[in-house]
Amino acid sequence: MNQKVKLTLVALVCVWAGLTICTEANPTAQPPQSQTKGEVERLTLPDYRQWTHVKSMVIFDETHPLYKSFGGMHHIYVNAKGLKASQAGGPYPDGSTLVFVLYEAVNEDGAYVAGKKKVEAIMVKDRHRFAETGGWGFQAFDPQTHQPLIKQADVTSACYNCHASVKDRDYVFSRFVN
Ligand code: HEC
Repeated sequence: MNQKVKLTLVALVCVWAGLTICTEANPTAQPPQSQTKGEVERLTLPDYRQWTHVKSMVIFDETHPLYKSFGGMHHIYVNAKGLKASQAGGPYPDGSTLVFVLYEAVNEDGAYVAGKKKVEAIMVKDRHRFAETGGWGFQAFDPQTHQPLIKQADVTSACYNCHASVKDRDYVFSRFVN
């Protein structure tokens, strides 16, 4: 008897949930998405692990101004095209690419080790494609899906404005560590 009541309840819930899903999935309720992608939305994550290491840093304390957005352990890499410029502090030729990869900094018995990957960010130099943002295309990727996270409309406020503070070094903060 009890089992029967339970089964009926489950069936009722399923019908209700099904109806709700049907209503939410109604295609006419959603306006059609724009098919036009901005240039930075076309950027893909390069295979950077064989590139040259520029520097690393651990932001471990909330007193650091970048703790909220970049707290953790990060490494910076540069491709072959950008290597000389990285060593010289800029300017970078077209085709130069820098990668910033951020991991959680895990305190393991007094040593900071890399934990989960949090984000991968890139800067790609192309003075024509990215003329509006100092000649650099900025993009960040979800570490699991590798999908781009930054929309064209947001790149100035999300990335460029802060990097513009080092315009004299071609918008690149990192100094090459020998
Ligand atoms: C609030 C300031 C700020 C914002 C916003 C910011 N960055 Fe940066 N970024 C930095 C700093 C500071 C470094 C250098 C870190 C270091 O010294 O190790 C850096 C480093 C980088 C690097 C390595 C090259 C370099 O300049 O040193 C890349 C690539 C990068 N950022 C991409 C991005 C992208 C993409 C975005 C937007 C999603 C972004 N950044 C947003 C401050 C910022």
